[in-house]
Amino acid sequence: EYLRDFRGISQLERELERRLVLKRVTIVPGDSDLDPTVKKELARATAQYLQGILQAGMTLAVTGGTTLAEVAESLPPSRDPWPITVVPARGGLGEEVELQANSVAARIAQRLGAQYRLLHIPDDLGEEAVLALQAEPRIRELLDQIKRADVLLHGIGSAEEMARRRGLPAETVRLLRKRRAVGEAFGFYFDREGRVVYTTSSVGIRQEDVPQITHVVAVGGGRSKAEASLSVISTGGQDVFITDEGAARTLLEIL
Ligand code: BG6
Repeated sequence: EYLRDFRGISQLERELERRLVLKRVTIVPGDSDLDPTVKKELARATAQYLQGILQAGMTLAVTGGTTLAEVAESLPPSRDPWPITVVPARGGLGEEVELQANSVAARIAQRLGAQYRLLHIPDDLGEEAVLALQAEPRIRELLDQIKRADVLLHGIGSAEEMARRRGLPAETVRLLRKRRAVGEAFGFYFDREGRVVYTTSSVGIRQEDVPQITHVVAVGGGRSKAEASLSVISTGGQDVFITDEGAARTLLEIL
């Protein structure tokens, strides 16, 4: 607390809430680009916030990524079952298994004592096969549940880094550059103004579902994610932003 006040972090939180028009901004001291323990603090703050808003009967949709994987790790294991369902926000996005939304959803559910439902749709299917799978009653029903989630907890990626990590073809990388993609969240790539400029072919939450979700929580830190955060928040529909000082201070400079 002392460190927070000393650095004026509460003030910074209120200022970002006002300028980004968000219900809540939480900032942990430090910069996770420079210090990996800051990412752990970011995850811990997110885990705490999550536990505070979840209520029996809710559906929680989560994305993958290293930040969300860390959030799962920092949730204290629960002793009692909790009637909550955790689902992946979207199907495969070409990530390594441990970083996929399915894995993160299962891990978070285990920690919370919640149930989980996973989306088993490979990312490299053709359009026709995806349509056929989506028509399957059980998948249909799961996709409906995902879209009607009460809480969406998602990571924020820099467009360039995500394109590299997911091994997008050179042609797509060029397209992203041409369209000035700077941020990424759940498989959508956005320009600085928050316009969708590219979409990966995967199933699950769509940009137009987001405003209907009561608690949309974006989490990402490190100054390298400042511009990406701005682009994702500019889409509207975000409620809460949990970040670190590095991203927050850089964000204020570019706003
Ligand atoms: C992806 C999510 O898995 O991780 C994205 O689908 C997010 O929403 C990205 O942008 C962030 O990853 P990391 O590893 O930087 O937390």
